[in-house]
Amino acid sequence: MPQAPIALIARNPNAVLNWQTKLSAAMPNETIIAFAALSQAQKAAVEIAIVADPDPAEVAALPNLQWIHSLWAGVERLVAELGAAAKPIVRLVDPELARTMAEAVLAWTYYLQRDMPAYRAQQTTLEWRQRTYRPPSTMTIGILGYGALGSRAAERLNQAGFTVCGWSRSPKAADAHAQLYSGDDGLTAMLAQSDIVVCLLPLTVETRGLINSTFLAEMKRGASLINFGRGAVIVPEALIAALEAGRLSHAVLDVFATEPLETASPFWTHPSVTVLPHISAPTNFDTASVIVAGNIKAYRDTGALPKTVDVVKGY
Ligand SMILES: NC(=O)c1ccc[n+]([C@@H]2O[C@H](COP(=O)([O-])OP(=O)(O)OC[C@H]3O[C@@H](n4cnc5c(N)ncnc54)[C@H](OP(=O)(O)O)[C@@H]3O)[C@@H](O)[C@H]2O)c1
Repeated sequence: MPQAPIALIARNPNAVLNWQTKLSAAMPNETIIAFAALSQAQKAAVEIAIVADPDPAEVAALPNLQWIHSLWAGVERLVAELGAAAKPIVRLVDPELARTMAEAVLAWTYYLQRDMPAYRAQQTTLEWRQRTYRPPSTMTIGILGYGALGSRAAERLNQAGFTVCGWSRSPKAADAHAQLYSGDDGLTAMLAQSDIVVCLLPLTVETRGLINSTFLAEMKRGASLINFGRGAVIVPEALIAALEAGRLSHAVLDVFATEPLETASPFWTHPSVTVLPHISAPTNFDTASVIVAGNIKAYRDTGALPKTVDVVKGY
């Protein structure tokens, strides 16, 4: 009997076309068919779905589905929409994505360390003023979330001479690049010493709204924040209040609860906020397709899945 096709499900038609080309090239022995083109018989046979922001009704229309491969690293929407009864979900873990994100963390850390927002503001008022240079060795960067992306960012920052700490859900021993913390006390200890806090947390029930007024009050006076994780981890009003009060110097925000960011958002025009349009770590279609192909081949050969998402924890 011929092998069942793999369903490709994405809301964005351009994404379907792009992914179909790249995934088919990476898996010449598999038949990858966009959901809209599947026959009823094919829908009944499909065991594997590869998804990028799928319509949950389309996933539910595959009665023989065994597992789902997400083309995104963040799966909070998938977990929320498919529910606890969802088939096992494998998310994208791509070293190239981690490299790109680590590069962004280093770039925007330098942006803050070298006072670029302040020099930009000075230029608008023709102000010639040299600020005190802070060498990386005198600065501590605290990373919220020490997973695939956070740990790679720590390595890059550490190589650039910064002192690094990381915070995760489960306790971990310090590695070569960072002092590691967990739990509420660990968070307090990390925030008290971090000149820049970088958020690389997934959005879960526990992390939603984590960066609130209490959190911000625990940050070092004059520290800055970079959010490359998910927008809803931050309470926007609390962040604006901390910036207005001068408690925080600057925020670099790449992710927002609603994207594109609403035109009415005060983040757009706030002098202490840098707004980025979700560009910190774009997916590389080529490397991601090779990773997905490797996971599917391993499943075909051995029946084993890579680590799957814990739908209770939400990541
Ligand atoms: N802006 C972008 O372009 C972009 C691109 C890709 C991904 N992302 C975001 O980045 C997130 C992280 O990706 P990843 O691949 O690094 O994920 P990951 O490998 O699953 O790592 C997540 C980290 O967060 C920690 N964590 C989760 N819940 C926590 C909690 N309640 N308290 C403390 N720590 C907690 C985890 O702790 P444990 O180690 O104990 O499990 C882990 O260290 C994604 O979920 C996505 O939202 C953004």
